[in-house]
Amino acid sequence: LTAYPRRGKLISVRGIDGLSEDWRIFGETECGEYSPLYASICRSVADDAELLGLAASAPATGQQPNVLLAAVHYLVLSGLNTQLSEVYAGRRGISDAPALFREAVLGHRDAVARLLATRRTQTNEPGRAALLALGLVQAAAVLGEPIGVLDAGCSAGLNLLLDRYRYDYGAAGVLGPADSPVTVGCALSGVATVPARLPVIAERHGIDLEPVDLSDADDARWLLACVWPDTGRLPRTAAAIELARRSPPPVSAGDMVADLDAALDRFDPALPVVVTTTSAIGYLDEAQRRDFVAILRRRGIQRRLAWVTTDPVGLIDLFPAPPVRRETLACTLGLAIFDGGEPAGRTLGVCHSHGAWLEWTDPAWPH
Ligand SMILES: C[S@@+](CC[C@H](N)C(=O)[O-])C[C@H]1O[C@@H](n2cnc3c(N)ncnc32)[C@H](O)[C@@H]1O
Repeated sequence: LTAYPRRGKLISVRGIDGLSEDWRIFGETECGEYSPLYASICRSVADDAELLGLAASAPATGQQPNVLLAAVHYLVLSGLNTQLSEVYAGRRGISDAPALFREAVLGHRDAVARLLATRRTQTNEPGRAALLALGLVQAAAVLGEPIGVLDAGCSAGLNLLLDRYRYDYGAAGVLGPADSPVTVGCALSGVATVPARLPVIAERHGIDLEPVDLSDADDARWLLACVWPDTGRLPRTAAAIELARRSPPPVSAGDMVADLDAALDRFDPALPVVVTTTSAIGYLDEAQRRDFVAILRRRGIQRRLAWVTTDPVGLIDLFPAPPVRRETLACTLGLAIFDGGEPAGRTLGVCHSHGAWLEWTDPAWPH
């Protein structure tokens, strides 16, 4: 048995039966109504011994449903000329998607197997910037500004450019430069208006175990391939990648626990720093999570320091479970201030993992 992390848990690869269950659960709980296209493909792969067999022959990292889905999407983005491209582009209904998906995998078996063997899920979701933006406003209200931002587990660093994006929070209003090439929509509820502006970011840096190099066309395409085609996120991710290519965010390779001290040392000591993590803490085991918080506690004695994070509801004790919860990909948006004393965690709201919606629950609004 091989174990690999998924959404904060270690799960085992149990051969074809286990994979079938993974596909079924993934389709129901993660895709669901959010991605009807992938939900329908997942349902059919869960019953397809041939496709499951191909997935089962991959290394553990390649066995996650997301990786086979991304492998086929990668082929589509590479110009694979099948009707599946039409479905993914939304120009054709999804009823044929499972059969076309199957045809694409089996027709390009070697290429798919190569991708499963060499790639792993790699997302860098600029939609999460809509969550971080409001978290940073709250953090700066306590710490003062300008601030430094350290994004830990930053992938390609797209969320380090969060002050370059335009946010559309629906009825609550808009935020960010009107002429931004990247617009992120987030259905915000629980508040009447959004803040007038973001805090000034004087310094920014990101660390990731395996940063994505956007100057590598293949890596950039894989990043895009990991986006689910029918969720409306492709154009904004492509635009964010383009922006990051023109203005590369400062990212370096490093472990978010072992190298956290060194990453914090990069910032002007007088500058308050907000450490951000989005869908990254789940990759740490419990001992690493404890160490991560312990380092922030220690560093909070010397400098103004906060942590803004989005992670699956209940993953981090510091942030009480929000009073409301929607099921599909529900995360907690949390803020903790580290000032030398016992860190006080505030749950700001419950949100969709990709930032599709945010239900604000913290009474301290507006800041
Ligand atoms: C699901 S992605 C999220 C990326 C980005 N934070 C976002 O929200 O778009 C998780 C990222 O965490 C990184 N990661 C996992 N464990 C890590 C560690 N111990 N230190 C640094 N980065 C890590 C992975 O390489 C990956 O890029």
